[in-house]
Amino acid sequence: MSFTVVCGGFWGDEGKGKILSFLALKDEPSIVARAGVGTNAGHTIQFQKQEYKLRMVPSGFVNPRIRLLIGAGVLVDPKILLKELDVTKTHDRMGVDFQCGIIEQEHINIDSSNEHLKVKIGSTGSGTGPANVDRVLRKLKIAKEIPELESYLTDVSVEINDELDKGNGVMAEGSQAILLSLFHGSYPYVTSKDTSAAAICSDLGVGPTRVTDVMVIMKSFITRVGTGELPGELSPEETMRRGWEEYGAVTGRLRRAAPFNYDLARKAVRLNGASQIGLTKLDILYPQIAKANDVDMIKGEIEEFIEKIESETRIKVSIIGTGPSAEDIIDLREQV
Ligand code: IMP
Ligand code: MG
Repeated sequence: MSFTVVCGGFWGDEGKGKILSFLALKDEPSIVARAGVGTNAGHTIQFQKQEYKLRMVPSGFVNPRIRLLIGAGVLVDPKILLKELDVTKTHDRMGVDFQCGIIEQEHINIDSSNEHLKVKIGSTGSGTGPANVDRVLRKLKIAKEIPELESYLTDVSVEINDELDKGNGVMAEGSQAILLSLFHGSYPYVTSKDTSAAAICSDLGVGPTRVTDVMVIMKSFITRVGTGELPGELSPEETMRRGWEEYGAVTGRLRRAAPFNYDLARKAVRLNGASQIGLTKLDILYPQIAKANDVDMIKGEIEEFIEKIESETRIKVSIIGTGPSAEDIIDLREQV
């Protein structure tokens, strides 16, 4: 078995939640561990006719046999986590690292009123940036100081490394995406931490030699919420005309949209050391592939698009999303 890191290729909202829930059901890792910044992420999962918008609980929750963890690098908002534990009924299999940073109301207040963060950067207002400031100042509370979290506390690094030592599979769930990285993204219009595959490992306390695969998730067109560059950006009218309109899972904002960009795809593959691409929402570009599971549906212009991505990035597209549900997938990994 293996340690697979799943990360975002552009500016977030590539559909990581959907791919992760599919992989959790199909590959059955023992653990799915959430990495990334914190509650600024919103992962949308459609499963068994229900839709979940999760900001803390890992998308792998759809498989009841999987242990769910949140790594030390992630910021936890206890109120949001406890609510999601109720919604997903996952109390008995959730572990929170004892060193996760804690988002408090004051962080949310600053993030949603501060001119620089809210207006210039276009933050999600979830408190993650100000909480990471306090963490760097070494005055942020950590999970082991919060009584409500006591029954969930664990050492995520130990749990994951032990599981890998036993030969079992672990999946790391990144949030945000590479172009939102504080170090490698479109600074200053970025999030408050690195978001690369390497950072995902660091969030969880797993070393780089343990990684078997890095799957970078790319959507068939690009979206961005908040401010900052977006090459090839379409007008809101053109976005709607093409049927590319999306609204932020956390903020409800209409996402800005642009066509797929091969230069950015190459950059994303390199910065993450990606070994495979998960391509989502192909049905939005090509309605003929909607809800398909069959490899034979990849032909003509669809095949050309995928081949172009592969030749430009020099890695394989191994999974294709063909609809919103976790079951709407063409899995090419056997063919790879
Ligand atoms: P913050 O992370 O809330 O401080 O927001 C900084 C920038 O990152 C803003 O442009 C946000 O819209 C963007 N951002 C943060 N998290 C996500 C995410 O999960 N998906 C998409 N954009 C995000
Ligand atoms: Mg999102």
